[in-house]
Amino acid sequence: MDTAVPQINNRRRSSATERAKELEAIKGFVSGKNILITGGAAGLGYAFLNHFLKHGANKITILDIDGENGRRVASGIEKSYGEKKVYFVHVDVAKQEEMIEAFEEASILMNDIDIVINNAGILDERRWEREIAVNIGGMVSTAMLAVKYMSRENGGHGGILVNVSQHMNINNTAQLPVYAATKHAIIGLSQSLADPYHYEKTGIRVLTLCPGLTETGLTIDSPNKLLSRVMKADFVKNLEEVSIQTPYVVARGLLNILRLGDSGSIWVIESGHPPYEIYVPDPRTLRRHYKNNMTCVETKVGKGRAITRVCDNTRTSMICA
Ligand SMILES: NC(=O)c1ccc[n+]([C@@H]2O[C@H](COP(=O)([O-])OP(=O)(O)OC[C@H]3O[C@@H](n4cnc5c(N)ncnc54)[C@H](O)[C@@H]3O)[C@@H](O)[C@H]2O)c1
Repeated sequence: MDTAVPQINNRRRSSATERAKELEAIKGFVSGKNILITGGAAGLGYAFLNHFLKHGANKITILDIDGENGRRVASGIEKSYGEKKVYFVHVDVAKQEEMIEAFEEASILMNDIDIVINNAGILDERRWEREIAVNIGGMVSTAMLAVKYMSRENGGHGGILVNVSQHMNINNTAQLPVYAATKHAIIGLSQSLADPYHYEKTGIRVLTLCPGLTETGLTIDSPNKLLSRVMKADFVKNLEEVSIQTPYVVARGLLNILRLGDSGSIWVIESGHPPYEIYVPDPRTLRRHYKNNMTCVETKVGKGRAITRVCDNTRTSMICA
């Protein structure tokens, strides 16, 4: 008993010391930086904004389509942090011309851009053309402009680009085919831009953030944004099986990702836990194995689609089912 207490205290002391060191390291990455956040007027983007401010960001520009909320956020922050700390630019990320002007305005307002959080997105399967325009078009546009303004090749000094995708459980996306497609696209965008082929020229570290289910306006509205009303009950049932986290946890995790993540790294934050890294496997390691006559020699029965034990060799098709 006598020895247990000091041990616990020591552990507490050391974890407090570690936390202080971690905070110091995070400050090193964020302090004095000029940051642009798309979709920063609400949800995850708003949580990122608050965390960046708390950790000493120099200036932040929010790009958002919601004028009312954007202006309210900017003036609210002015009261706590003073003038010329946070700027709001009203823009639809899906409109390239508006985006070109918005980036120009942001770079003038802040003098420079060091970090871009490519976050604005929607979930609206009924308006899937719009969903693609915002989630892919808007994110591609933001990424390209981030490169233009931060790349060493263009006279910038490098920086960090964070693209927001989503933590995918392929078994849970049946009711969100288009949204899932848009979020997969972001992994491809990130992986290409993060390649040393680009990184060595641009000096921009490209990171991908994949949040799990998070309590925001997007999630709350999602059951009413599906392709058909019939899907709602199944969708809600799926949602209930996943534990939901707060935007605060994701924002806290993002700060560590900025500190630790190599260019090209992909980070999941789910169920309120600290971030963990995942990778896109080499497709060759995912090959199914067949004997010469196309007989399946491996059987895997997972939670999803079962893979049948033996192929029918008499069929002309290559499908093993
Ligand atoms: N909430 C989740 O569970 C979750 C999980 C994984 C990934 N994400 C992704 O995180 C990002 C942020 O989502 P959120 O949950 O905070 O959503 P949200 O709806 O709470 O906030 C999105 C913000 O983006 C803005 N926005 C939407 N369309 C825009 C446009 N065309 N131009 C400019 N701004 C626009 C909105 O006005 C809003 O301020 C999205 O890319 C989303 O796909 C969310």
